Amino acid sequence: MTLYERSERVFFETYRRLPVSITTGGKGAILIGDDGAEYIDLIGGIAVNSVGYGNQRVLSAITEQINKYLHLSNLFVQEPQVQLAEDLATHSGYDRVFFTNSGTEAIEAAIKLCRKWGNSNGKHTLVGFSGSFHGRTMGSLSLMDREKYRKGYEPFLPDVLHLPFNDVAALRSSVDQNTAAVFLEFIQGEGGINSAEQSFVDTLFELREKYSFLVVADERDSIGNRANGQVLCV
Ligand SMILES: Cc1ncc(COP(=O)(O)O)c(C=O)c1O
Repeated sequence: MTLYERSERVFFETYRRLPVSITTGGKGAILIGDDGAEYIDLIGGIAVNSVGYGNQRVLSAITEQINKYLHLSNLFVQEPQVQLAEDLATHSGYDRVFFTNSGTEAIEAAIKLCRKWGNSNGKHTLVGFSGSFHGRTMGSLSLMDREKYRKGYEPFLPDVLHLPFNDVAALRSSVDQNTAAVFLEFIQGEGGINSAEQSFVDTLFELREKYSFLVVADERDSIGNRANGQVLCV
């Protein structure tokens, strides 16, 4: 039985994998398949960790660290973690950092923050947009409108509104003093590479000034940068 067949037998059927198995690794963008073929990996991990295979700097950093200790609980303070947080804060322009293990956990953390802030300010509605993708946990799915991901998992979080992306009129007529937070990707990825239009972003921040809600950027681009300091970035 091939490794692919073994994986098909043993893993939960959540999504289809490529019928390519890797044992030896690769170099740069090239991966060596167990079938002997060289594959150019245009996917990365997915669209993250794009440091290339066999990256010597990464390898030496990991080796150096592993020789000291592998894992510490968050009860202890440790240099690499603090350094990474400082670097992220410096490069993002934000004051503080919260580490999660995945994108969807970042969204869950943001939902909790927004709910808590909203509850103490009398604001209860969270807004998500059509075509968005925030992850596969229940909070993220609640913000999304796509049947493909949501079907069968109802009920979702209450007080969530789905609005059409880039629709200025819908934004104006739906966002108000009850809005606690608006979640958006400034460039939708899974939704089909749709950028938030400048007029849409301008309206969002105009309404934010008027009603005081939080804006959560699920990955920030140059338009999002303009709003530096006004958004929670996940
Ligand atoms: C914009 C965006 N948000 C959230 C996620 C979820 O990230 P994860 O799969 O790490 O939970 C993704 C994953 O592709 C994403 O593209």
